[in-house]
Amino acid sequence: MKTRFAHVSPLIFGLVLTGCGRAENTADTVQLAKADTASSPARITFSDLPVPPKPAVTPELIERGRHVYDQNCAACHGVEGDGKGDAAAFLLPKPRDFVKANYRLRSTPTGRLPTDVDLFRSVSLGMPGTPMPPWKHILDENDRWAVVEYIKTFSPRFANPEEDRTAVVALGAPPARTPAAVEEGRALFTKMACINCHGESGRGDGPSAASLVDDNNTRIRPRDFSKPGAFKSGYSTKDIVRSILTGFNGTPMIGYHGAIPETDAWKLAYYVETFAQPAAPQAIARQSQNFLDREPLGDPDVRIQLSERAWKFVPDVIRVKKGQVVEITFEPTDNGLGVGHGFAISSYDEDAFVNGAMVGAPKTVKFRASRAGKFTFYCATQCSTEKLHPLMNGTFIVEDDSAGQTASYE
Ligand code: HEC
Ligand code: HEC
Repeated sequence: MKTRFAHVSPLIFGLVLTGCGRAENTADTVQLAKADTASSPARITFSDLPVPPKPAVTPELIERGRHVYDQNCAACHGVEGDGKGDAAAFLLPKPRDFVKANYRLRSTPTGRLPTDVDLFRSVSLGMPGTPMPPWKHILDENDRWAVVEYIKTFSPRFANPEEDRTAVVALGAPPARTPAAVEEGRALFTKMACINCHGESGRGDGPSAASLVDDNNTRIRPRDFSKPGAFKSGYSTKDIVRSILTGFNGTPMIGYHGAIPETDAWKLAYYVETFAQPAAPQAIARQSQNFLDREPLGDPDVRIQLSERAWKFVPDVIRVKKGQVVEITFEPTDNGLGVGHGFAISSYDEDAFVNGAMVGAPKTVKFRASRAGKFTFYCATQCSTEKLHPLMNGTFIVEDDSAGQTASYE
């Protein structure tokens, strides 16, 4: 089991970067992603992603899938598909457990397995706002199909003929988006108790929000509707309607299919969309499926020089203030096993992420310290090298002056 893992190629870093990093210093990765966006100027979300026909499922295809999986996925999802890869300890949310097979991004009713097309789409687009990268930039269609077939082998449910994987939830016809329809959406948002979790503000701060956990018993936050870029299953009206009707298996977000008429789901979606910031149209386009183009941050408020010595960060405590634009330049004193060292902050991974910093070739990342609290920063190169860097971490403290003290997160 471990020998296979040792082959994980450095490719994974590029991938993680595409999904999570600002990637300022990774020209190759940026180009890859840009090339892809250039060919599809319109923002493609889950429901609209074109899916090529699935190749015939042969033993060779599964074997190909196993290879793709071991190279690209096992570090997070585990060689056995149980979500316990070596990098999992450092990730939030936790990687999906393919044995349990509670899939969130689906077109099928609550509790059901996803369709093959659903799986192809989630693997292709990733899950924005989480460490799950969009693989369409890296893996060709055949490899994506192969790996989809392979991850299905982790759960006996996929082979069970009694599992209905073909019935998809109908979304119905969209009602006109009139002020009255939006107003009805608002009323439904209260009536259906969405506010208990998502809050009156739509920011995910309802009275029940603090106590929610997922099937991993990990704390889970209701979606903050003011951040279109954080919608895991796609930010388009159609995708929001689908999420409301199908729900996210393994989370407190149940599906409302059968509980409300489809027109009500559309009205709720219209209302959900009103929470986006006024700058939304542009921001949405930028934040779509990759994180490469973000708000320009301007000059940093603090500049930090970070180094590494004998697998330890120097300094190992970084303190900043909430709201500050932080620039961290990381230069290690050795190149590890030849691929250098990385830097990422748990819970900030998608903003602050570098990989492959080498002696004489520092890497810089700039991001806004938007969340107060105490976070772990770690060597992102962990993913590749098994037990190499488990102790290479430090504490990133973001003080919130307005609150008069350091808030704690999670
Ligand atoms: C850097 C870590 C990482 C890597 C590498 C990674 N994943 Fe994930 N993946 C995650 C995380 C984390 C989640 C769960 C996110 C959540 O629950 O919000 C996830 C979720 C998923 C899901 C679940 C979608 C759903 O409907 O719930 C699928 C399918 C998936 N990954 C497939 C893959 C495949 C295939 C690969 C390799 C080609 C891969 N992942 C590589 C971290 C990773
Ligand atoms: C019991 C708490 C709870 C209730 C009630 C609830 N939600 Fe959610 N909702 C969640 C959680 C938790 C998530 C995030 C799941 C995740 O991140 O994997 C979520 C996610 C979502 C998403 C995001 C989908 C995406 O792509 O990321 C939408 C949209 C949504 N909820 C709408 C609603 C609407 C509309 C209602 C009422 C009809 C509702 N929710 C009721 C807890 C709840």
